[in-house]
Amino acid sequence: MKMINVQIDLKYLKDFLSESQLQQYGKQIPDVYRMIYDKTGAGNDFLGWVDLPSQTNESLLEDIIACAKTIRQKAELFVVIGIGGSYLGARAVIESLSTYFSHYENQTRVIYAGQNISEDYLADLLDLLDKKEYALAVISKSGTTTEPAIAFRILKAHLEQKYGIAEARKRIVAITDKSKGALKQLADAENYKTYVVPDDVGGRYSVLTPVGLLPIAVAGIDIKQLVFGAQKMEAFSRANQQMEANPIAQYAVVRQALYHSGKTTEIMVNYEPRLFYFSEWWKQLYGESEGKEQKGIFPASVGFTTDLHSMGQYIQEGLRMLFETVISIEKSNRELRIPHAENDLDQLNYIAGHRLSEVNRTAEMGTVFAHIDGGVPNIRIQLPELTPDSVGQLIYFFEMGCALSGYMLNVNPFDQPGVEAYKNNMFALLGKKGYEELMRILKTQMETNK
Ligand code: PA5
Repeated sequence: MKMINVQIDLKYLKDFLSESQLQQYGKQIPDVYRMIYDKTGAGNDFLGWVDLPSQTNESLLEDIIACAKTIRQKAELFVVIGIGGSYLGARAVIESLSTYFSHYENQTRVIYAGQNISEDYLADLLDLLDKKEYALAVISKSGTTTEPAIAFRILKAHLEQKYGIAEARKRIVAITDKSKGALKQLADAENYKTYVVPDDVGGRYSVLTPVGLLPIAVAGIDIKQLVFGAQKMEAFSRANQQMEANPIAQYAVVRQALYHSGKTTEIMVNYEPRLFYFSEWWKQLYGESEGKEQKGIFPASVGFTTDLHSMGQYIQEGLRMLFETVISIEKSNRELRIPHAENDLDQLNYIAGHRLSEVNRTAEMGTVFAHIDGGVPNIRIQLPELTPDSVGQLIYFFEMGCALSGYMLNVNPFDQPGVEAYKNNMFALLGKKGYEELMRILKTQMETNK
């Protein structure tokens, strides 16, 4: 068995959950695991992510690495156009595994578009692209999502004007459905390099498909190690389908036990700013998977110690419906010590010679104890260090944890029907064909609300 090194620490839950509560929810684990592996649960046609890491063949990884190399040779910027699951996974991994100021260095930088409809954002981006060599990926499983479609239309025109149509086509990679959707049609017509998003993998579970892997490879990250890490967690999960000794199952059980005891908001906490987008990815994964039928834990996030000086007050003393899940990294990649100062005006000499990571870890423990005292249960997810392997493990950990948790909550963790509501209203208000009746209803609503 390949060893996993992502662990869970539940000792800080003692004051909040009894053994019998844990057993009550833990009993469900073998059944929900069966629903996943036997494909008997709701949304069972979207379980392709379950064995995706072990099914990813070497030749696909080699192809992606080669494509990334070509992009790195000709582009200073690689624009990833996508929204939701079509960009958050890539951004989460790239930022988690890059050095903080790598964008000032001489290498291809991945940047993002199509994740908003801000006119200023795209106009500023075009100004930048006027001055830089670039290539782009347009990523949309459905191939019809409005935000990336608008961005792609604008950037495609810019690219064609800058390089001419023939060269522009060589600078575009399309990642979409294997046969349907407007993007697939265009990619075929214009002969773009294309990768497929598998039918049975939903957007928010797609980071280990080309959706995430191509941008991650362009950022210079070892995608083989990333997938290898996920493979280890996949194998571990399959071999341990009960609560005991399985941190994924324990995470799902504890979340459900806390939720049913009134802790309805989960805050993902990190002490490394480069995990900011990992929390964003996690929020999408859990929010879209569980938040339905008027149920579900609300996923939030903070970055400490920064947010201890803002949200820390609420967490310590506000409404008590919170619990925290702390991503705890044992070892930092770099070493930096606090220098001694002769006059000690700032009174820091008592920690002179200590590493910053020691101080950061101490802040973490101090905060855990303070928040527990304040009535906020803490789960700690521990990683030895941030590497492609451990981040790969963590991705699979949270994906499987989400599926288990969603089934325990009795929802379909693989659909997102609620996302359609805003889209329909927007289409109607923009006057899209077929939305005339909705337009009439919305206009009446607007009149009565005047
Ligand atoms: O998880 C999901 O399915 C969504 O968040 C999608 O990823 C998002 O809406 C983008 O969809 P698409 O890739 O079809 O453009």
